[in-house]
Amino acid sequence: MPKPLKKAVLPVAGLGTRFLPATKALAKEMLPVVDKPLIQYAVEEARAAGIEQFCLVTGRGKTALVEHFDVAYELEATLRERAKTDALALLATTSMPPGSVMSVRQQVPLGLGHAIWCARAFVGDDPFAILLPDDLVLADVSWVRQLAEVYEQTGGNVVAVEEVPREQTSRYGILKVGHDDGRVVEVMGLVEKPKPEEAPSTLSIIGRYILQPEVIGEIARFERGAGGEIQLTDAMARLVGRQPFHGLRCEGRRFDCGDKAGFLEAQIAFALKRPDLADKVRAFLGRYV
Ligand code: UTP
Repeated sequence: MPKPLKKAVLPVAGLGTRFLPATKALAKEMLPVVDKPLIQYAVEEARAAGIEQFCLVTGRGKTALVEHFDVAYELEATLRERAKTDALALLATTSMPPGSVMSVRQQVPLGLGHAIWCARAFVGDDPFAILLPDDLVLADVSWVRQLAEVYEQTGGNVVAVEEVPREQTSRYGILKVGHDDGRVVEVMGLVEKPKPEEAPSTLSIIGRYILQPEVIGEIARFERGAGGEIQLTDAMARLVGRQPFHGLRCEGRRFDCGDKAGFLEAQIAFALKRPDLADKVRAFLGRYV
């Protein structure tokens, strides 16, 4: 029986250059899809998988991310005074048990691997999930939960994977694939951002991971990878063959909210799932397409 999964690291220290100027003073992960910020979707997805402890790896200008999960005493008191019960209920969805959210600072965004290494004291000797909040998931079952169910069987490391067009492999971490039953694949190797002609497959890692703490030691070699950044994929690649390593094609849809078109598509998809909005959105969409 593998060690239970209780911790999640959420790296949110990136510069968000693709969303400038919106992200000049506001973290990309605070951008809302319909009415909820990306960070909250990620935390809710992790909690649905039984995760209890969260570490946000933040950077300059990211304090709103931590405050989002704090108690807003004055706001709550004012809403109560005015009997705004619906608004109070919405506010309650951001409430977290005391001590369950911590944050560490990545002073310089040296890469995703480096961001995870910044959470090393939080990780300790435990397995942990990583969620990249700009990968937003619409699914009946939380993707972290889907990964955790595989992890309970296989132990080791389990990452979410998805097919990408071959011409886009240089944007992703790509798998070298072993045994593949159509859902769970054995990972034989990992390459960050390979050129299409050099990519070992078109199966890419998506922003959900369950990893063993040993990955931290591998990151600590601080080798610069693709784009001169300290890459998580390179550190994970060194665990392949030493620990079980699997990819899971999760059920549901993923939206790349780090990208403008992906973010807009997510707005539409999530709005169409909302009983209070679906009809209105369907009606106005007709005016544009
Ligand atoms: P991205 O590649 O999307 O980079 O990072 P970014 O800076 O957020 O956005 P763009 O490309 O400039 O528009 C993937 C994830 O890794 C985190 C980001 O916050 C995001 O969740 N990250 C990346 C860090 O926390 N630190 C880093 O040094 C790099």
